[in-house]
Amino acid sequence: MASRKTVIAFDLYGTLLSTESIAEELARHYGEDNAGALAALWRRYQLEYTWRINSMGEYRPFSELTRAALHHAAAEQGLAPPSREAADALMRSYDALRAFPEVGSALDHLLLDGNRGKKVEAYVFSNGTAEMVGNSVRGSPDLGPRADRLFQALVTVDDDEGLRCYKPDRRVYSHLMRRAGVEEGREGDVWVVSANPFDIVGARAAGLNAAFIDRTGRGWIDRLDEARVPSVVARGVDEAVRSILEKA
Ligand code: LAC
Repeated sequence: MASRKTVIAFDLYGTLLSTESIAEELARHYGEDNAGALAALWRRYQLEYTWRINSMGEYRPFSELTRAALHHAAAEQGLAPPSREAADALMRSYDALRAFPEVGSALDHLLLDGNRGKKVEAYVFSNGTAEMVGNSVRGSPDLGPRADRLFQALVTVDDDEGLRCYKPDRRVYSHLMRRAGVEEGREGDVWVVSANPFDIVGARAAGLNAAFIDRTGRGWIDRLDEARVPSVVARGVDEAVRSILEKA
C-alpha cells in the first residue's frame, strides 16, 4: 500500500504563469489600445471552447482551441483575423510566459520542505497538451531551472494516458489522482492550487482539497455551488503553499 503523502498540483496558466506578456505580443499586432481587451476576450473563449467541447463529448487539443479562440476574439472586437505568422508568434508567446512574482520563492520553500523529509509531491496540472505545457514550463526562467527537482510530473489532459477531456470534468481530477499514485478514498491528500474558480469547484466536487489564489483580492465570489468552496483562499502561491504545508 502506498504510504501517506500530500500532493500539491499547480494549475499553470494564470496560476503559476502570468499570461500578461501575451497582451504585449497582441499589442505588437493589434496596437496598445486593443491589446488588453483582446487578451481578456481570447482567454474567455479559450476556456469557453474547452467547456463547450466537453459538453459535446468531443475533444480537440488545447493548442488548437486556443488558436481558434484567438480568431473568435479578434472578430468579435471587429479586428482583422491574425495572419498565420501572427497567430504562430502569439502561440509561441505561451512558451515564454513569466511566473508571478511570488512563485519562485514559493517553489523554493516547497523544495526546502521536501528536503526536510515531509512527504510532499508537487505536480503541474493543466488543460494544455503535454508539448505546450512542457514548453511553457521549460521556457519560463522561474520554473525551468526548478522543474526537474520540484515536479514529479507534468500532468496534462493530453499526456500519454490520453484522457482527452478538460477541467472541470471529474475524470480530469481522477486522472490526477491516478498519475500521482493516490488511492481512491484519499482525495483529501491532494491539493489543487488554482486561480481559476472553475478548477477549484471542480476539484472540490471530486473530493480534493483546493487552494484558491485570489489575485484580485475580491475573495471567493463564485456562486455555482455554495457547498464547493475553496479549502484555503490565499493572495499568492507562497501563502497557499505555507497553508498547505501547515496542514500536511
Ligand atoms: C490550465 C488552464 C485552465 O492550465 O489555465 O489548466
